[in-house]
Amino acid sequence: MTASPLRIGIAGLGTVGAGTLKVLRAHADLLALRAGRELKPVAVSARARGKNRGVSLDGLRWCDDPLQLAADPEIDVVAELIGGSDGIARGLCELALRNGKHVVTANKALLAHHGAALARAAETAGRALAFEAAVAGGIPIIKALREGLAANRITQLYGILNGTCNYILTQMRTEGREFSAVLAEAQKLGYAEADPSFDVDGIDAGHKLAILAASAFGGEVDFGAVSLEGIRHVTLADIRFAEELGYRIKLLGIARRTELGIEQRVHPCMVPLAAPIASVDGVYNAVVVEGDSVGTTVFEGRGAGEGPTASAVVADLLDIARGHKIPAFGVPAARLAKLPRAPLAKRKGPCYVRLMVVDRPGIFAAVAASLRDHQISMESVLQRGRAPDAVVPVVMTLHEATEAALQQALAEIARHDGIVEPPRMIRIETFA
Ligand SMILES: NC(=O)c1ccc[n+]([C@@H]2O[C@H](COP(=O)([O-])OP(=O)(O)OC[C@H]3O[C@@H](n4cnc5c(N)ncnc54)[C@H](OP(=O)(O)O)[C@@H]3O)[C@@H](O)[C@H]2O)c1
Repeated sequence: MTASPLRIGIAGLGTVGAGTLKVLRAHADLLALRAGRELKPVAVSARARGKNRGVSLDGLRWCDDPLQLAADPEIDVVAELIGGSDGIARGLCELALRNGKHVVTANKALLAHHGAALARAAETAGRALAFEAAVAGGIPIIKALREGLAANRITQLYGILNGTCNYILTQMRTEGREFSAVLAEAQKLGYAEADPSFDVDGIDAGHKLAILAASAFGGEVDFGAVSLEGIRHVTLADIRFAEELGYRIKLLGIARRTELGIEQRVHPCMVPLAAPIASVDGVYNAVVVEGDSVGTTVFEGRGAGEGPTASAVVADLLDIARGHKIPAFGVPAARLAKLPRAPLAKRKGPCYVRLMVVDRPGIFAAVAASLRDHQISMESVLQRGRAPDAVVPVVMTLHEATEAALQQALAEIARHDGIVEPPRMIRIETFA
């Protein structure tokens, strides 16, 4: 082989960084064959030098400070696998690009907040900014959007983007347990962080959705445009009612082109049991993309973990080694602009509502009147267990209504006598 090796500096040797090093080592010959040149790790950086990482660091230069990788003339590409939306990760990527190095990162938080600025810096430097591992782990969804589906006008995409939430919702359904019990177990098993809010409040999925929307619609990453709602309020009762009504509850990220602009939202959804996404369970991720020429495409796979994320990082390195250059978000960075926002208040769709009601005559009539006053019509009503003056769940599915009307009606209903908890609403998405 005559071409010079691609010299790689790896910052961060945790799950993703150590996994990347393992794949680069295990498949060195195959990768060199595919790239036409060697993919050669030359230097690494992490905090604790003596830590066993399950992979040998022999022959690699150790840098106490990751910024040394960005300054090193013997390095062509920096893989930022540390994490965090600012601080050292951001500084490293910016400096590496300024110094004319390509950057590969798995850092969705960084991209969600600074993706457009980094894309511009990469373009100015004439270098690649690649981030396949940042969204849906091993699923090559960024490549699909930027390349394989590039002939399409994307109409919508949606997906299960957070494995922790999908695991929790799956366990609640299959084991018949409540959210808090499943979360505690997931934390014990290492599937959920000690502070789970990034996952269960939808923030992580929101980061990924903002990156997907930018890649699909060719705009700036705009995390502030994403409406976020997590899964803390989903109960086992909701999951059971959903099944009875023919739906499954999933935390989805949805980006949709509408007449008003691009909707970007993350929230629990009821999806029809027959929808492909309904049967994606456990820690798996899935993304559905709809394009005007291609129709519907479905991608599914492992969204996190050492192997899947390393697979994505190394694929990006291989592209760089081949000299394959694609703008970070599919269009030249100089042309990136904020996508027009379609506010959630304008969403029109059906939904599920659960009320906890004192079983007493007249209360339901008042609920029905509030809905009627906001031009919202009921599709079905379920009530389980009758016991005068006891609190019972009443579940309704409502026909298509605007979000604004729905929120007003629910606020009014919450004030009625005999409604003992705030109404719980879960949007129904049929993707028709
Ligand atoms: N884990 C996944 O499945 C997954 C999936 C998709 C994307 N990601 C993203 O990938 C990135 C890395 O995640 P991870 O799970 O691999 O994290 P991790 O296991 O916590 O590893 C982080 C690594 O960064 C090193 N580090 C932290 N601060 C540093 C500093 N100031 N200087 C040098 N090194 C520093 C740590 O060093 P020590 O080991 O010495 O402490 C550690 O090796 C994050 O952006 C994450 O969001 C992760």
